[in-house]
Amino acid sequence: MTAVAVANAAYVAAALLFIMSLAGLSKHETGKAGIRYGMAGMAIALSATIWLTLSGEWTDETARGAVLLVLALIAGAGIGLWRAKKVPMTGIPELIALFHSFVGLTAVLVGWNGALNPKELSAELAGVFNAEVFAGVFIGGITFTGSIVAYLKLSAKMSSKPLILPGRNLLNLGALVGFFALTVAYVITPQLGLLIAVTVLALALGWHLVASIGGGDMPVVVSMLNSYSGWAAAAVGFLLSNDLLIVVGALVGSSGAYLSYIMCRAMNRSFISVIFGGYGIEAPSGEEEETGEHTEIDAAAVAQLLNGAKSVVITPGYGMAVAQAQYPVAELAKKLREKGVNVRFGIHPVAGRLPGHMNVLLAEAKVPYDIVLEMDEINDDLASTAVVLVIGANDTVNPAATENPGSPIAGMPVLKVWEAENVIVFKRSMASGYAGVSNPLFYKPNTKMLFGDAKDKVGEILNAL
Ligand code: TAP
Repeated sequence: MTAVAVANAAYVAAALLFIMSLAGLSKHETGKAGIRYGMAGMAIALSATIWLTLSGEWTDETARGAVLLVLALIAGAGIGLWRAKKVPMTGIPELIALFHSFVGLTAVLVGWNGALNPKELSAELAGVFNAEVFAGVFIGGITFTGSIVAYLKLSAKMSSKPLILPGRNLLNLGALVGFFALTVAYVITPQLGLLIAVTVLALALGWHLVASIGGGDMPVVVSMLNSYSGWAAAAVGFLLSNDLLIVVGALVGSSGAYLSYIMCRAMNRSFISVIFGGYGIEAPSGEEEETGEHTEIDAAAVAQLLNGAKSVVITPGYGMAVAQAQYPVAELAKKLREKGVNVRFGIHPVAGRLPGHMNVLLAEAKVPYDIVLEMDEINDDLASTAVVLVIGANDTVNPAATENPGSPIAGMPVLKVWEAENVIVFKRSMASGYAGVSNPLFYKPNTKMLFGDAKDKVGEILNAL
């Protein structure tokens, strides 16, 4: 068997392991096994690639390949280990966005490499190859700059407000038409100028698409970029005639697209609108800055309120993750349950910064699964709840989503905590949440603000109880 045949057989095995990995990751109980399948698949794929580079006659070219491979492995493994060890749980989305940008950049570089070192091909095949180069560079370029903007927005290095350029939908459409025109021109006569033009066009379009999307819709954007990075990897697979990259790229591309669709449904957003950079979304009609009197409360008074309550619902958000308050929160739930209070958790689908972020934190703190309910399961019970504790959540409990059609988060389903008898909001200031939208909940007559770090404040309540 030739080295290529061995490597191809290994790639098929790796592809199967990746499919098993995805299947494993779809359930809590099989999640760990899913991760192991993925690791095994990646180890096989890497080994096969190393074998392919080093096997055969040892020439100058093999030696160059070996040096480049070792350098790439050291750089990749070094950066991967360093970031994975350092990144806090709350920083995972921006790390993922950064990883997607690498996939995009790779597709652009591989495309350029293919164009600058063309293979010996017949005229028809050369046409197909040139079209592949353009597709790879275009998808890769969009993924690259789109992911960088997502990274900047998620890490608050850039405003989360949507960029609304005049005629932005026409700009996007024009870029798409421009891409097709450039591709046709390049297939007819491959010229460096056309390649430069399509690269610049893709980079600008990626930037514009993601910059046009507001903070509240960023979770969908991250999963959409995940999908784009899959298609970019598949394009690279076609350019390099690598079946594994084609299969894995298609898996990531389609599962990312499906996840985006599910998240759009959860957030009542149009899928088409999000993938086309906010197509059809009007600029928010001047959100009025919410002002008014808010009332503060201290931990001792909250403890007293909880002592007399029959039912308590805790709605955690990103602030609980930042404060690492899940342990005292779990302790509080346990203590109240021992006193006979009906305690439940209400989890919004995009609470925190990752799908399932809150569920993972609560499971880590050993909160029983059966009292952790989804938003749809708890929303109707909130009106008959004595006390709701909003712990570091903001956008996910914002009544403006249902009450103010001009709000940037209008239409997004939220936890209707304001319907409860008493609402206690744990946060450090009156600052707005991720979407940058002010929250009328804080000024409602049944709402009291408990300012401070969520972990400290829950600890104080525990002491007072
Ligand atoms: P946010 O709306 O971001 O609000 C979090 C609140 O926590 C802030 O208002 C902040 O107020 C407070 N906070 C921060 N640190 C705290 C601490 N140490 N102690 C107490 N409070 C603290 O969070 P959310 O309600 O969970 O909503 C999630 C948002 O993130 C949504 O807009 C969603 O679209 C977006 N998003 C979600 C995802 C996914 S998939 N889940 C991914 C990316 C983005 P102070 O600063 O005043 O303390």
